[in-house]
Amino acid sequence: MSNKITIKDQIRPFEKNINVSGDKSISIRWVLFASLASGTSKSYNLLMSEDVLAAIDMVKKLGIKVRLSKKICEIKGQGINGYKYNKELILDAKNSGTLGRLILGLIVNTEYKIKLIGDKSLSKRDFKRIADPLQKFGAKIKLSNNKGLPLTIRGTKNLKPIKYHEKKGSAQCKSSVIFAGFRTDGKTVIKAKKSRDHTELLCKFLKLPVKIKKYKKYDLIEIKKIKKIKPLNYTIPSDISSSAFFIVLTALSNRSKIKINNVNINPSRVGIIIILKKMGVNISLLNKRNYKGEQIADIFVKSVKNLKPIICPTRLNSGAIDEFLLIFLVAAKANGISTFKNLSELNEKESPRLFWGAKILNFIGVKNIVTKDSIKIYGNPNVKPQKKIIIKNFLKDHRVFMTSVIAALSFGGDWEIHDKDSINTSFPKFLEIINNLKK
Ligand code: S3P
Repeated sequence: MSNKITIKDQIRPFEKNINVSGDKSISIRWVLFASLASGTSKSYNLLMSEDVLAAIDMVKKLGIKVRLSKKICEIKGQGINGYKYNKELILDAKNSGTLGRLILGLIVNTEYKIKLIGDKSLSKRDFKRIADPLQKFGAKIKLSNNKGLPLTIRGTKNLKPIKYHEKKGSAQCKSSVIFAGFRTDGKTVIKAKKSRDHTELLCKFLKLPVKIKKYKKYDLIEIKKIKKIKPLNYTIPSDISSSAFFIVLTALSNRSKIKINNVNINPSRVGIIIILKKMGVNISLLNKRNYKGEQIADIFVKSVKNLKPIICPTRLNSGAIDEFLLIFLVAAKANGISTFKNLSELNEKESPRLFWGAKILNFIGVKNIVTKDSIKIYGNPNVKPQKKIIIKNFLKDHRVFMTSVIAALSFGGDWEIHDKDSINTSFPKFLEIINNLKK
């Protein structure tokens, strides 16, 4: 079967009410917490994507029993020291940076040498950022080419608490160090640049010994050794990063409206909403509620005629880090010049996304100036792609694929987009929902 799609027409006006899949960050974290709990945890609406299935396979390889049905996932945790390690164990994080980095914090006390591998894209990514603090705890980690996967880790039962300054705004590094702190006598202290805080919220809900003081630019997190985690039944809210594709499609389409139900609107994730509102997009959050410490709402979006350019405040970067490819499309249709700065982290993702953002804009015919950490976009409300556009060789980055689909449907032109299967990483239902919008 062909693994590419072609799109030749702009989408016609639509008015829809949709449900997107469960949040990826929370799904992976739930699997990991449940795998350490003393007893059985159940989740509903767990994201059934390759990244989350990789997390399930990984905890199974560590000896944890998992029962998966269409609606429920049940994990029988064996307590915080319940992982079964053996010689020559190989763990595969596949495409998932979150899984690859978080699991290292949890196996930091193993006395066996464990190998961690990943797919081609993950193997190119930076694991030194997490190897460095974990080595300070006392683990021995050998990276390929001093940077990435495959790596080997041999931990120790005598972990020493550390003081760690997380400067990149990486929730993955922060979470991994929190996990390692759970296994360490004494007090681990993290000074962390702001980033998504799902791990901390789960710790708070589970009453684990994690103290957080929030300052304007950073959080101070103190972690002590844990004895026990209670089983956690959890209904995963919908993913704002998956919702973002439909928010932007609606914003860029004519006379369209969409309601996206039950979306996680954790303040550390809503950068896209804040940025798009500043650009004139009509978005409202309805029926706001709290669920086990996470905030949830229904998101309502209407298309608008006049989009404003933005000088994007860099403090909003972390909360929109997975959505910039889409935000660049909105800037492309805005009436004026937008600038986005301090975005070197975008090139640390599944593919170099700042580069891909610029490339997609070039294809559409929107002038831009890109550097290694910034982009200036010369918006043009009337732009229309002139030549056939072929999107391929993007390391199967799911967000490049889905953003290209949104670009094709909102800018028009003749598009051929390869590696359709990449959506299985985070959002297998993506094309099904797109097709429903067309009906
Ligand atoms: C994630 C954190 C972010 C984000 C990724 C998911 C997480 O990565 O880009 O998609 O679940 O912790 P970084 O921690 O590298 O910024």
